[in-house]
Amino acid sequence: MTTIETPLTRLLGIPRPILLAGMAGGPTTPELVAAVSRAGGLGVVGVAGMTTEAVHDAVARAVALAGGAPVGVNVLISPAVPRPGADPDAVQAILAPLRTVLGLPHPPPAAPPPATPLDLVVTALAAGATVVTTGLGDPTAVAGAARNAGAPLIAMASTVADARRMAEAGADAIVAQGAEAGGHRSNLEVPPDHEVPLIGTVALVRQVVAAVDIPVAAAGGIIDGAGVAAALALGAGGVQMGTAFLVASEAGVPAGWRDRVRSARDDETIITRTLSGRPARGLPNRLTRALAAPGAMGWPEQNAATGDVRRGAAHANAPELMALWAGQAAGLAGPDRPAAAIVDGIMADALDRMRHLGALAGD
Ligand SMILES: Cc1cc2nc3c(=O)[nH]c(=O)nc-3n(C[C@H](O)[C@H](O)[C@H](O)COP(=O)(O)O)c2cc1C
Repeated sequence: MTTIETPLTRLLGIPRPILLAGMAGGPTTPELVAAVSRAGGLGVVGVAGMTTEAVHDAVARAVALAGGAPVGVNVLISPAVPRPGADPDAVQAILAPLRTVLGLPHPPPAAPPPATPLDLVVTALAAGATVVTTGLGDPTAVAGAARNAGAPLIAMASTVADARRMAEAGADAIVAQGAEAGGHRSNLEVPPDHEVPLIGTVALVRQVVAAVDIPVAAAGGIIDGAGVAAALALGAGGVQMGTAFLVASEAGVPAGWRDRVRSARDDETIITRTLSGRPARGLPNRLTRALAAPGAMGWPEQNAATGDVRRGAAHANAPELMALWAGQAAGLAGPDRPAAAIVDGIMADALDRMRHLGALAGD
């Protein structure tokens, strides 16, 4: 197996500097996670929104399939983001006809109270996860559990100030998430107008590397070996990739979402708060357009309100009503193929690029 060794790969005990983004809501199946870990990267199960029972089963299965390679768990830790002027009835009135289209009951059955990030992490560690990664907020709530288990803690940040605060909170490594990234923006604070700073991956990674003295992984718009080589050149010790793995054969991603990802134009993704009440990058569809009407709630109310429709649409392969999270490089994702082929291809490409760049140098 070709390898690239960095401070990040040494921290995680992996031979290749590629982290699968824990992607909650279906994509990071145990099969995908195990395939990435077996291929030398770090597979990570995204468990936000799951019950502790489901987390135990998913992590235990990933660990069993990974054959001794490390497996990580990812949780989302966000404080409430209030939305002044929110109108829950208006949101439900928009969702009602969409539920009819999908054959879902309206109103939806009451959901059990969500497990806390700490409950999810403790469960995952007990099931065999050996790395903890976080997104959206301050990782303090799970830092003690990770430390007690000897599991490295990797926190995602979208500004230099947030990266510093996460390092002070006990993170062992930082994921620097640039504006190109698919999914939720990982800003510690979201102002009432939901306008968060959007710093591109190149500018952010370089400045985070200078600001903290722990390993950094670059995230956002990195989809191939050229992106990995660029991240290493910027001083990162590796990458965290989400969109690249949405087309993995093992990913829990419906065909309609995969097709929208690989056919996306560079200018097609948007940052929308309509689906969850926090800003996040994805492809626009009927659901985002419908929920753009006034009245949207904040986090976590909007996320909870739209959950049954997003899940029902994924189940029915109805891309116009799913959450189509994707980053700005989505159009380069390529055809469906096994995760091991994606990781091997990225590594071969990265090593080629690095050799090519080395050959350009002259005295
Ligand atoms: C479908 C999707 C779901 C995501 N879910 C999560 C999540 O549950 N937790 C998390 O920390 N990050 C999540 N992210 C964000 C990733 O951690 C990462 O920042 C992003 O994927 C990097 O950009 P890229 O998509 O261009 O590779 C998600 C991203 C995508 C595309």
